Amino acid sequence: MANSETLYARIGGYDAIAAIVDEFLQTLATDPRMERFGSAMNLERRKRNRQLTLDYLAAASGGSTLYLGQDMKPAHAGLAINASEWKIAMDHIERALAKFKVPERESIELLALVDGLKGEIVER
Ligand code: HEM
Repeated sequence: MANSETLYARIGGYDAIAAIVDEFLQTLATDPRMERFGSAMNLERRKRNRQLTLDYLAAASGGSTLYLGQDMKPAHAGLAINASEWKIAMDHIERALAKFKVPERESIELLALVDGLKGEIVER
C-alpha cells in the first residue's frame, strides 16, 4: 500500500468502512450503558443514521463520498453526551477496527479522526 493513498483507500474503501461502522453501531446499540440513545429509534431512522455515519467517515477519511447530513455539533446538540459515554464509543470503534484486522497505522489514524470530533459531540 502506497503511503500517499488516502486513509479511505488504505482501510479498503467504502465497503470496508461500512463493515466497521455496522459493527460499531451494533455493539453500541446493544451496550446497556448506552441505552438512553435511540433504544426507541425506529428502523428507518436507524438506517438513516447508519448511512450518514458511514458517509461522514468515508468523506472525512478522503473518499469521494458527499456527506449530506448535519454538522456534528447540531447533530448531537441536546443529547448531553458525556466524556465517559464518549470513551465507551471510542472503545467500541477500537474493537471494531481490531475485529476487521485494520492495520495499526490506519486504526490510529481513524481513531484520531473520530476523537477529533469530541469537542463537537461531547457536551458535558
Ligand atoms: C458517544 C458517541 C455518540 C453518540 C451517543 C451518538 C448518538 C447520536 C444520536 C442519538 C443521534 C441522533 C439520532 C436521531 O435523532 O435520529 C446521532 C446522529 C448522528 N451521529 Fe452520532 N453519536 C455519537 C458519536 C458519533 C460519531 C463519532 C460520529 C461520526 C463518526 C457520529 C455521527 C453521527 C451522524 C452522521 C448523525 C446524523 C446527523 C444528521 O442527522 O444529519 N456520531 N448520533
